[in-house]
Amino acid sequence: MNQLFTPIRLGRCTLSNRLVMAPMTRSRAQVDGTPGELAAEYYAQRASIGLIVAEGVQPSDDGQGYLTTPGIYTDAHVAGWRKTTSAVHDKGGHLFIQLMHAGRMSHPDNTPHHRQGVAPSAIAPGSEIFTATGMQPIPVPRALSTAEVRQTVADFRLAARRAMEAGADGVEIHGANAYLIQQFFAPSANTRTDAYGGSIENRARFAIEVASAIAEEIGADRTAIRLSPGTAMWGIDEGAEGPALYRYLVAELGKLGLAYLHIMHLGNEPLLAEIRQSWKQTLIVNRPGRPREQIGSDVASGLADLEAYGQTVLANPDFVARLKSDAALNDADSSTFFGGTAQGYTDYPALSQAG
Ligand SMILES: Cc1cc2nc3c(=O)[nH]c(=O)nc-3n(C[C@H](O)[C@H](O)[C@H](O)COP(=O)(O)O)c2cc1C
Repeated sequence: MNQLFTPIRLGRCTLSNRLVMAPMTRSRAQVDGTPGELAAEYYAQRASIGLIVAEGVQPSDDGQGYLTTPGIYTDAHVAGWRKTTSAVHDKGGHLFIQLMHAGRMSHPDNTPHHRQGVAPSAIAPGSEIFTATGMQPIPVPRALSTAEVRQTVADFRLAARRAMEAGADGVEIHGANAYLIQQFFAPSANTRTDAYGGSIENRARFAIEVASAIAEEIGADRTAIRLSPGTAMWGIDEGAEGPALYRYLVAELGKLGLAYLHIMHLGNEPLLAEIRQSWKQTLIVNRPGRPREQIGSDVASGLADLEAYGQTVLANPDFVARLKSDAALNDADSSTFFGGTAQGYTDYPALSQAG
């Protein structure tokens, strides 16, 4: 585990350890998408972790899926995020903003313009989503025109520029967990007949164009991407060709010289090992629900350069100090994950505060 506590160079940053806070939506932003009052404190509390990947942030009105998630496309959003990046930097930390376009995982009640969600194809995910009036079925989305797909790439590019204006150290493109980019990957969600559907190359095209545009705009060394090969929820089925798509995608992304690839690992060990071989830049691995005794094992085995943790960091602002001193960990309270105030957000005790 000691290797976890050694510094590592990542893009333009030198991180003090190899632990990463995985991106986590907390739905505590203001209604206009400006980060909430407590966001800076929440992230600054966790600044001792090598890298913070801030929660999914929409690059446009269309990109919003859930209630009160933050955006990064207006002056107010930029000013709000600047408070967080400054607070994290003041404590010696580093922060990438995750750019998340929810695509069809959305509801008109949750977006500022209340329009139908957009997606590669007009196929509903067959699931429900939380809205202000409770859980509701997700309606059939509207298929983006080819011109709109290109406009969406431009929206990502502009959002990345604005994240730099807000002082972020980089951006992580959300290509995982059944949101827009993964919707393009999956034949179950993408039946397009233009250059963005059909073959593996076409289904991977949108992700590659987004990554290329952002890398060109802010520098490849400040651009990263998260993928979750094999997602099988919310109507996503990548089919038998899934692993082949990821082999192609990772090879193409590898040509861009990105800051890192972040794999949310769902269990395909041979594919993860192949990705490790073909990806020559920094690799972050997140294994959902990893037991404590296995913390550090992927860095120790050389499978990953850094390890990401979600719920444990949410509940332990001083996760690094607790690991170093082998101290007990607070449990995360899932009832306060989304929405609400300081409870379950900024009030998890650090060791120094524990009774
Ligand atoms: C409350 C909550 C919100 C999440 N929001 C996001 C998100 O915005 N973007 C993302 O890529 N993953 C999101 N995830 C997934 C986490 O990043 C992580 O992959 C997952 O929690 C598994 O890791 P863990 O067992 O260490 O928590 C979220 C998870 C939780 C618990």
